[in-house]
Amino acid sequence: MVCLGNICRSPLAEGILKSKVDPEKVLVDSAGTASYHVGEAPDIRSIMIARKNGVNISKQLGRQFKLSDFDEFDRIYVMDHSNLQNVLKLARTDADRAKVELILNELKANSNQDVPDPYYGGDEGFEQVYRLLDAATDNIVNKLENGSI
Ligand code: 4NP
Repeated sequence: MVCLGNICRSPLAEGILKSKVDPEKVLVDSAGTASYHVGEAPDIRSIMIARKNGVNISKQLGRQFKLSDFDEFDRIYVMDHSNLQNVLKLARTDADRAKVELILNELKANSNQDVPDPYYGGDEGFEQVYRLLDAATDNIVNKLENGSI
């Protein structure tokens, strides 16, 4: 799960998906394309909206996306088009590129929509991000269960 800062959207995506899968079977992690918040806990507003929904993301620590993530993970979900560009710039091969997908395309195929960056807005933005990621990760879980991922 990749966003810009790895403090608002991708920590939520990580925490929500982790809460729905068997950790022995599925490795879920998150990262930011930027390094501003490396080593930091998620934004308090993400921690609070997750907590309200029974998901604890408070122990996560920010890290930057790295080349070896292309080797470590089968799917790389980005939150928006800017993240998409930044990750694709680092891709070394067609196989790397094929792993990268806008996460909301799992909610609605080929919709090419962004998870809005809630950083500069109010709590409502975080509620919306939570709802979108909860729905998208439901579909990811269905695909994992039916073997199409
Ligand atoms: P995120 O949100 O990419 O969802 O973690 C942001 C967090 C920090 C900044 C921008 C977006 N920032 O500019 O520091």
